[in-house]
Amino acid sequence: MFSLPLRDNASLRPLEIWHAEEFAAHLDRAREHIRPWVGAGFITDDLDGARATLRRYAERQAADGGRLYGIWLDGTLVGGVMFVDVNAALGLCEIGCWLEPAAEGLGLVTDACDALLDWAFTVRGLHRAEWRCRADNDRSSAVAQRLGMTLEGVQREYWPCDGIRHDKENWAILAPEWRLTRA
Ligand SMILES: CC(C)(COP(=O)(O)OP(=O)(O)OC[C@H]1O[C@@H](n2cnc3c(N)ncnc32)[C@H](O)[C@@H]1OP(=O)(O)O)[C@@H](O)C(=O)NCCC(=O)NCCS
Repeated sequence: MFSLPLRDNASLRPLEIWHAEEFAAHLDRAREHIRPWVGAGFITDDLDGARATLRRYAERQAADGGRLYGIWLDGTLVGGVMFVDVNAALGLCEIGCWLEPAAEGLGLVTDACDALLDWAFTVRGLHRAEWRCRADNDRSSAVAQRLGMTLEGVQREYWPCDGIRHDKENWAILAPEWRLTRA
């Protein structure tokens, strides 16, 4: 029902439990591409798993915590962006994202994250938005950079994946910095 245009043929919409079948089909196209880079709990193998993820975010949203949004390109769910968490009391949020391979390289995630930052800083009055990624996730770091975020630090050997512990980058942007980039 609610839809934010990103392009003539692409839009950002709430991703909700009733999308479970569409989300499961999308995960079949995205799973191996995103597996090394996202939290293990986001990688599910069937419809029940996909529905559980959507339910988890619905519950977080009900508590004014996380929120999940899908990106539709030419009518197909191809990825999304999320508030991993929102802490209104402290003025903080963390943003995340993913895409299936066919939707990479179009700028959709940068534009979608920009819409989340606009809502976080303009509507919700938050002060700080964070971004966390594996240090070798060049495409994710590039999104953080395009959003005007600052690399604040690296947590060494934080992220276990396939028997290797990877460094994690912590990026963030503050509300006044974001307003300056938009001015
Ligand atoms: C991280 C991820 C979402 C980034 O996707 P992406 O397509 O590189 O990011 P965007 O949608 O912002 O697109 C940026 C690309 O589109 C290009 N582009 C085209 N039009 C653009 C526009 N109008 N605005 C911005 N970029 C545009 C950019 O030049 C860039 O391409 P390049 O990297 O080849 O230079 C994707 O690589 C992914 O899903 N990876 C696996 C999961 C993952 O890592 N998730 C994040 C966990 S922290």
